[in-house]
Amino acid sequence: MKKLLTLLAAGMTSLVVADEGMWQPHQLPIIAGKLKEAGLELDPKDLQDLTGFPMGAIVSLGGCTASFVSDKGLVVTNHHCAYGSIQYNSKEGNNLLEKGFLAKSFDKELPAAPGSRVYVTENITNVTDKMKSVVNDKMGGEERFKALDKMTKTLVAECESNKDYRCSVVNFHGGLEYYLFKQLTIRDVRLVHAPASSIGKYGGDIDNWQWPRHTGDYAFYRAYVGKDGKPADFNKDNVPFEPKHHLKVNAKGVADKDYIMVLGYPGRTNRYRTATEVQNEFTVNYPLTKALMGELIQVIKDNSAEGSDDRIKYESSLAGLANYEKNRGSMIESYHKGTTQQRKDAREKAMRGWVKKSKSNNKKYGKAISQLDKLIDKAQKDAKRDTILNFMGFTRMMSTANRLHRLAIEKQKADIDRERGYQERDMKRFEQGMRAMDRRYAPKVDKALLQHMLTRYAELPKEQRRKDLDKFFGIGKKLDAKKLSKRLDAMYAKSKLGDENTRLDWMNKSVEDFNKSDDPFIKLAIATYDARMKAEKESKQLSGDINAVRPKYMEAMIAFYNSKNKPVYADANSTLRVTYGNVKGYSPKDGLYAVPFTRLEGITQKDTGEKPFDSPKKQLELIEGKQYGNYYMKDIDSVPVNFLGTLDITGGNSGSPTLNGKAELVGLVFDGVYESIIGDWDYEPALNRSIHVDARYMLWVMENIDGADNLIKEMDVIR
Ligand code: ARG
Repeated sequence: MKKLLTLLAAGMTSLVVADEGMWQPHQLPIIAGKLKEAGLELDPKDLQDLTGFPMGAIVSLGGCTASFVSDKGLVVTNHHCAYGSIQYNSKEGNNLLEKGFLAKSFDKELPAAPGSRVYVTENITNVTDKMKSVVNDKMGGEERFKALDKMTKTLVAECESNKDYRCSVVNFHGGLEYYLFKQLTIRDVRLVHAPASSIGKYGGDIDNWQWPRHTGDYAFYRAYVGKDGKPADFNKDNVPFEPKHHLKVNAKGVADKDYIMVLGYPGRTNRYRTATEVQNEFTVNYPLTKALMGELIQVIKDNSAEGSDDRIKYESSLAGLANYEKNRGSMIESYHKGTTQQRKDAREKAMRGWVKKSKSNNKKYGKAISQLDKLIDKAQKDAKRDTILNFMGFTRMMSTANRLHRLAIEKQKADIDRERGYQERDMKRFEQGMRAMDRRYAPKVDKALLQHMLTRYAELPKEQRRKDLDKFFGIGKKLDAKKLSKRLDAMYAKSKLGDENTRLDWMNKSVEDFNKSDDPFIKLAIATYDARMKAEKESKQLSGDINAVRPKYMEAMIAFYNSKNKPVYADANSTLRVTYGNVKGYSPKDGLYAVPFTRLEGITQKDTGEKPFDSPKKQLELIEGKQYGNYYMKDIDSVPVNFLGTLDITGGNSGSPTLNGKAELVGLVFDGVYESIIGDWDYEPALNRSIHVDARYMLWVMENIDGADNLIKEMDVIR
């Protein structure tokens, strides 16, 4: 792919250069020429049709992406995306995370973790006018927030009149545009196949976010529906969902420089934040969240023995925490090593200068921009305290009691007026959350986490602390650790919320029942309710205030980009996007060049026999014997394991199929290189590399190690 747009204004990057961009399907005409030039063999228009090929084969798992790979609802995604479901079906003595899992026939498939869903986006509608019609410039922040919230709920309720669908209204460019997404929601999801973690998570958290990489990060689910073809709750009589479209797998794979693209659901990027926001995040907020994540990991490990039931319950949380801790660490490192802040400052200055230069632009945007600056300062003021309180929510007993109590309160209102998450539409998920807790909760660990976060909280200056919490836990000037520990022990011993049926019962109780309860965690929920509501109100107000000005800031930014002939894509917001580029190596530092493919032999080189470099013996023997079978790649004289691409992806893209120019599956996206992580804020073409598991490695392992012939036969594999 040629670097087309390299004539950047002095000091500016982060404008659109080749490979950068997470495009909304309706934007594709803008980049159709470039897609063709880059190597897309389909008509770019085909990618716009959500229910056609290939878009109709792409699904969201909520937080990860996946795709249909057979006409019987077989779904492929990453191992780390199915991790929670593998963990859910594991116990001490039958640890599927360790052993892997393969259903040799449909009836052997296992239910995925409660709440697992397959979402198929069928419709995207621009609802900007409707949303804007309920707000005006005179509204205060809270009023504005409420008006938008109500319109959102109304649109969602209308769209969800058909119960098979889940709908959401998502804002783009901070509220400049709104789109309504309508997704068919499949609720019976089953685990079909996952390799052992010694393949699916080979290299573990050491290799995570790194190249060279040798991870078989794939797993298979199947989507089931009722006999009538409509989504249904789990039932053994359900039948496999038959998607209109599924992807073929191309076993010939790709080579260096080939065109690739990814269709998927990237979660969040922050490419258009103000220079001040960037600085706040990298110098204050990220260092704190990174530290807290590291601490929680340590607390969990210190309080659960490796391989124990307790540890198994927290494996998924641990993987998530470790992933983000490393993510934040890399960003902070890149920020201090590189020139991100300088470039953000330069862009800010150039954009504001451009606005000032014209009288009409100044009139249009000037006030909103200075207003935004003030609100950003305001938001930052209590950021540390708020982060610590948020992390306290990581403890399950406290958050479970809060949620159950809140439900009783919300239930007193009409459905449309209830807080999001507490409406009728949310109850199935709510219940599943309450059920699933058992498999993700151990009292000893939970207590240690709460004790740790309360300790962190107690270090805050008195004026930032909350009276209700101080009082409930008897936190004075200094925290008495022993006393607190005793208090918490007593609370965990007495509370009945650790019991599934008790939790489910509480879902149907009244506010009075709560007020009468002597369960210590319910008492805690009640004692802190008012203060939490006050904080929530303030945060809604702030969010409404920001919503009144951020769209104007973004309008100015877009006009500024367009004045330089650069098309603008929106920040990621967990909605369907297209990104395209090439297979390509990179230079992580001076003197080094990273080639784009890793080979089977690299697994052997890394292997120590110990976790996380403990490949199955059988794999090492096959490699030793050069048993490449059907998946040999001449260029590298081996079977390719992982490869590098230039695609613009982020968390949420995990599990997305990597497609060639014909939209055949040649791999799965599962990670980005260490140097690319800061890309969420600041895209750097030289360092931005996506990491993909090669379909050839996946097939090689399935065929030669796990004996998953049934699945290989089921898929359309192009040889
Ligand atoms: N870094 C990957 C991502 O966020 C997740 C990889 C999970 N693997 C792991 N070893 N924790 O997309």
